[in-house]
Amino acid sequence: MSFQFAAITAAPADPILGIRQKFLADANPRKVDLSVGVYQNEKGETPLLEVVREARQRLLTDDYQAGYLPIDGLPGYNQQVQKLLFGGDAQILEERRAVTIQSVGGTSALRYGADFLRRHYPQAKLFLSDPSWDNHRPIFERAGFEVGTYPYYEAHSGGLNFAGMLSALESMPEGSVVLLHTACHNPTGLDPHARQWQQLIELFKERRLIAFLDFAYQGFGRGLEEDAFAVRLFAEAGLCFLVASSFSKNFSLYRRRTGALTVAAADEEQAKRVLSQIKTDVRTNNSNPPVDGAAIVNLVLGDKELRSRWEGELAAMRARINQMRALLVEKLSQAGLGDRFGHIAGQTGMFSYSGLTPAQVERLEKDFGIYALSSGRICVAALNTKNLDYVTEAIVKTARQS
Ligand code: LMR
Repeated sequence: MSFQFAAITAAPADPILGIRQKFLADANPRKVDLSVGVYQNEKGETPLLEVVREARQRLLTDDYQAGYLPIDGLPGYNQQVQKLLFGGDAQILEERRAVTIQSVGGTSALRYGADFLRRHYPQAKLFLSDPSWDNHRPIFERAGFEVGTYPYYEAHSGGLNFAGMLSALESMPEGSVVLLHTACHNPTGLDPHARQWQQLIELFKERRLIAFLDFAYQGFGRGLEEDAFAVRLFAEAGLCFLVASSFSKNFSLYRRRTGALTVAAADEEQAKRVLSQIKTDVRTNNSNPPVDGAAIVNLVLGDKELRSRWEGELAAMRARINQMRALLVEKLSQAGLGDRFGHIAGQTGMFSYSGLTPAQVERLEKDFGIYALSSGRICVAALNTKNLDYVTEAIVKTARQS
């Protein structure tokens, strides 16, 4: 008798990671995966960074400690995360009003924050940019939030709809939670500029909104310090907010799931109470985090020489992505599409919000074995000089058919 699970229906494949599975099953020798946000080098590989390899080696010769980490993670790592976010001499660090909890990638940082907010602010609604990362809505809905959106992308110009965003924020109920991408917006690659962030901060104060900053791409936009601009502005404004950090991309630690949730509170005492609450979320999910990725990040960020090597490798990834983006735009234009894809030149980070329609994305997959998200998002960091001509040619043929 096996009736217990008979009523269970199959869940749909994940809109991002599910595409990767289809790609792997495709027998086309020319196939290209532009779906998931994973950096690939010129050879189409995602190797360990050299500096990570070295750090791993050094850690192996350390005295091996086999016990559990504290619930909130490796203390040195949490301190390094705060320094990277706010800058080493930031006032918020001196005031000790920020607390950091090691998490299993950026995703669990979002989920810890979502669970904490939902439990303590059960009336609050959560707002995402339209569009946003495909996993944001399910994370916050699973935590019990009613999820709304605010305008972000303006399809006709391919730019940021800042006026629409401001007016949506102005009319949100006080105390709403607003998720913002601090740099390299996923999927559009469009970020507010400095003055616009200032305006947003004023609104957050006025409307008593809670900002939840998703910061998965520090160093992939303009630079490590530059990309932290918005986070630092929120801190300097004295606001209470949350930040989800990820080292998947900038340390290439994807499968080591290394992230952190940082919460900025009003003062040290308040921060300690917040920390004690979030520790209960960790304890009931995964008890305490795994050490490997955090130990690597802690070692690299705390060692002058390793840190400078890491910054060099990160800068090289950023430069290669920018080069691929520029080449893609240039080749599409030379192939006769004029300025039709010109808007992607101004986007930052590892993605391009190409403007390809779901039907065009489907044709790219079916006719060419080129995989992208149905929203038209393509991972520019997966392009290289060997697949670029093939991808360009396929986009040109597909775009001309419609
Ligand atoms: C992406 O957006 O492709 C990445 O953040 C990977 C993921 O987990 O979806």
